[in-house]
Amino acid sequence: MITLGIETSCDETSAAVVQDGRKILSNVVYSSLLEHKKYGGVVPEIASRSHLETILPCIHAALKNARRRLPAGRQVSLQKIDLIAVTKGPGLMGSLLVGLASAKALAFSLKIPLIGVDHVLAHVHSAFLERRGRAGVPPLRYPVLGLVVSGGHTLLLRVKGPGRAEVLGRTLDDAAGEAFDKVAKILGLGYPGGPEVDRLSRNQDTKRFFFSRPFLSQDSLDFSFSGIKTAVYYQTERLKKAKPVSLRTKSQICAGFQEAVCEVLTKKSLRAAKRTGLKTLVVGGGVSANSRLRRMLAGEAAKTGLRVIFPPMALCQDNAAMIAALGHAMYKEGRKDGLDLSGYPDFDHTVMTC
Ligand code: KG4
Ligand code: ZN
Repeated sequence: MITLGIETSCDETSAAVVQDGRKILSNVVYSSLLEHKKYGGVVPEIASRSHLETILPCIHAALKNARRRLPAGRQVSLQKIDLIAVTKGPGLMGSLLVGLASAKALAFSLKIPLIGVDHVLAHVHSAFLERRGRAGVPPLRYPVLGLVVSGGHTLLLRVKGPGRAEVLGRTLDDAAGEAFDKVAKILGLGYPGGPEVDRLSRNQDTKRFFFSRPFLSQDSLDFSFSGIKTAVYYQTERLKKAKPVSLRTKSQICAGFQEAVCEVLTKKSLRAAKRTGLKTLVVGGGVSANSRLRRMLAGEAAKTGLRVIFPPMALCQDNAAMIAALGHAMYKEGRKDGLDLSGYPDFDHTVMTC
């Protein structure tokens, strides 16, 4: 069964062709990031316009590229698509609408089923995709514990099945990625800030600047990152009063900040694993690319026997392969949507009950 996935929730326009829900035949991603850089964040209007311009070229490219992974002579044309999966939320409404309208038009004209997919749960499901060179490895099985850390979300989830989850913890203020981006801005670094903070922190002293860890109450699985961000702001202002802050000092602030965020994410994930008894943790979203988080989580989890899965880097960023894969799994469970499918801007709480 061939699924065409479409993703347009934020600043990435993506189309992918996935076979039988696991094998990626193509995964084309166009990012409008450069157009947003000078504003220091994603500008919704610019993102929507970019999706409009690039969605059809992305779909064409996805169909064309899919041929390369098939035996010679076999092609993937629109007529070979069996299912259309599209991100329905959460995301920027103007951006989501471009993907939704394209998906509906294709499903209607090709007379094939359509399914709307939650973007956050798709990040977790990306771990279920087949990895290059590891074909034949048995697929993961639900339930799993999901940690989704991105620019818009920080969620700990008990993911019970495809598109079905219970929220165990969420951020009460800034998302983890948002905190990375804001700290980078305070320090006068580029956008997006996460990769910059990660790069500058490498091999730096994490103890010169210590930021207290917001664990909230003893048993809480929720997060709060705005306090650390504010502490970085006041620390930087204090230093600036004496003399211009050197790159070395900025790097040490980054290292102290990153250490605090990673420690909270790691400890709460282990706490959630202990409480739920789940044996596999899947980490998704842009912040899962963070090198310190990867090392810390892998190291700490190994001590408790928890298996941690980080999807490959290409699947950590927003992409349509994860949308196609989750759409396929949900369709196999008998779910599909009509042409009245609509989008939503925030994490869909109904996923907790369906
Ligand atoms: O999932 P994503 O690509 O987009 C959404 O927000 O949905 O996540 C983007 C976020 C940004 O805040 C970016 O700064 C952060 O992921 N990020 C990182 C790293 N790479 C990307 N944060 C920390 N370390 C990184 N290496
Ligand atoms: Zn995302």
